[in-house]
Amino acid sequence: MDTKKRIDQLSTELLRHQYLYNVKNEPEISDLEYDRLFDELLNLEEQNPQYASENSPTKRVGSDLDNTFPEKEHTIPVLSLDKEYTGEGLEKWVAKTMGKAGKNIGFVVEEKIDGASIVLYYKMGRLDNALTRGNGLVGNDVTENIRTIKQIPLITGETSDFAVRGEIFISKSDFENYNRKFENRYSNPRNLAAGSLRNIKSSVVAQIPMNILVYEGYFRENTANDHISILRRLKDLNFKINPNTAFFCADSESVSLTKNKFPEIATGSIDELSAYVKERMKTRETLDYDIDGLVIKINEIDVRENLGYTSHHPRWATAFKFDAPTAQTIVENIRIQVGRNGRVTPVATLKPVRIAGSTVSRATLHNQEYIEILELGTGDRVDISKRGDIIPAVDKVIDKNSENPSVFKFPGTCPFCLSVLIKDGAHHFCKNRECPERIKRSIIYFVAKDQMDIDTIGKKTIDFLFSKGFIKNIPDIYKFNYDRLLQEEGYKEKKVENIKKSIEKSKTQPFSRVLAALGFDGLGKAAVSDLIKNGFDSIDKIISAAAKRDIEIFSDIEGFGETTARLLIDHFNDRENLEKIEELKKIGLNFKEEARVETGIPAVFAGQLWVITGSFENFNPRSKAAKEIEKRGGRVSTSVSSKTTHLLSGSSPGSKLEKARKQKSAIINEAQFSDMLK
Ligand code: IVH
Repeated sequence: MDTKKRIDQLSTELLRHQYLYNVKNEPEISDLEYDRLFDELLNLEEQNPQYASENSPTKRVGSDLDNTFPEKEHTIPVLSLDKEYTGEGLEKWVAKTMGKAGKNIGFVVEEKIDGASIVLYYKMGRLDNALTRGNGLVGNDVTENIRTIKQIPLITGETSDFAVRGEIFISKSDFENYNRKFENRYSNPRNLAAGSLRNIKSSVVAQIPMNILVYEGYFRENTANDHISILRRLKDLNFKINPNTAFFCADSESVSLTKNKFPEIATGSIDELSAYVKERMKTRETLDYDIDGLVIKINEIDVRENLGYTSHHPRWATAFKFDAPTAQTIVENIRIQVGRNGRVTPVATLKPVRIAGSTVSRATLHNQEYIEILELGTGDRVDISKRGDIIPAVDKVIDKNSENPSVFKFPGTCPFCLSVLIKDGAHHFCKNRECPERIKRSIIYFVAKDQMDIDTIGKKTIDFLFSKGFIKNIPDIYKFNYDRLLQEEGYKEKKVENIKKSIEKSKTQPFSRVLAALGFDGLGKAAVSDLIKNGFDSIDKIISAAAKRDIEIFSDIEGFGETTARLLIDHFNDRENLEKIEELKKIGLNFKEEARVETGIPAVFAGQLWVITGSFENFNPRSKAAKEIEKRGGRVSTSVSSKTTHLLSGSSPGSKLEKARKQKSAIINEAQFSDMLK
């Protein structure tokens, strides 16, 4: 047999076995036999690359070449769904829709899979491309990654062009296993699925157990009269259809016809629809994949067309959502924030909304990948949630902005200094130390309550002083002549006096605060206190140790890794940093830890690392509790890590409690804590 023929034969055979194994769960051959055929094909393709098709079953293993995800236009409208939150609302919708149709119509109820939406385009029976939803008009081409999902047919028996909509998802159990490989980066299976679709290496994607269920088909030729027939046709083309689908109609003949066409699905008369929906709500937790509701669709295609569409959703379908979301609002703007250490954080400005007792108007978007996973743009309606005491997060786009749908593009350069942003891990960084925004942020950090506590100059005042050029760096805080402000609007004598007083007072802050206030990467409060405890109780000692450039001097300190040690050596050999320190020393700031005043309190918390969360009756603000811990030789940190030994947990503790439990830290409540202090 000639090589090309054999390659075609093997491809067809292997694709059939992939389908039998992955979709039908009815393999016909052993794994060993399968591998033998697969290897034969792989060999032939390697030796005869001119015959290797892009839809070959060998493409399922992906490639190590970097993928790009160019934008492509959808050729079908990719609309969203209207929604109902109550059984009553749903019943009304069904009655209203039946009235509009003017005849007995059938309703198909499907699960609303909570995954990543995908549109598959087939040409001459072969998968041509796969696009994400994007803004509904234009999506990202993720075809190479989609090819690795073995439940998706690459070649079908349908010769005319068609498109399929479906949901890519990962089962709950697979999520638990695989998220670990990504250092638990993804908060739920949906985000892992959406993130994986955009992984630049398809060979990595091939390792992730992604799955698909398809729910809409758009055929060019021999289009069916009803949705059930379309699902039937898709199933016959080897697509995976959700068996948890049901059909309801007042016309019993229509019910039995449907039963014949698609025996796997449940059927019933129209007045059984509500009870079915309620029952499915209850059994939701028993599924091994996430659903966030049900979708109720009209079966008849002609009725669908008559009812038509809004710019955002079809009038012939609605989603019945299980949970009223924590809060919904509109993203008014997306801005890029640059922190003092250059880390770039995209932030959404929201239309203010009440959530869990407070008004929220901003939410973090973490990083570029997060925005891409959400496919988020300005004007979109979103679900937001607030977990623990962290800043609220945007969880999901519910509706794209209908007038001007877009997906936010991460800038290539820093919006404040125009230097090129550099990606390091999950985040982008502005590496320009002269960046005005970074400098301004470092000043804001320096004066903040937890650092030098200069409470008369907050963010607004610094914005002003900085924009006027009065203060250009940290030492300027102490060098500027504040009497100059009397010429500015809103600065009366009293106010200026107060500023001068609090700046003077800040000079008495202890060395530990001064050092942490300088905001060097890796040198937070906890690290500073470790340094001091290990004998590095003056800046001179630290600088001369760093000058030796011996990592071990610092990495030997308990709790310090090599990374922190390296950072310290860099910071304290840097000329600019040393000049800044020298200047502040001259100004009179403390660069040496005063000998500890003997408190007479035994160090019962020595060696312990505490985190404090929630609110307290007798330790308000929480820093009161922190002081008590530190007085007794313990340390306090702001976030739970594997090193956390104790969590002091007040009322409304937030996510830290959960995390501390997982880390098996001791959980202490206020009463127990008060006892320990005695
Ligand atoms: S029908 C015009 N059916 O839900 C047809 N959507 O909020 C619109 N989804 O973007 C979609 N399961 O990603 C439909 N059985 C299902 C679905 C489903 C999940 C998702 C889909 C869509 C979103 C709409």
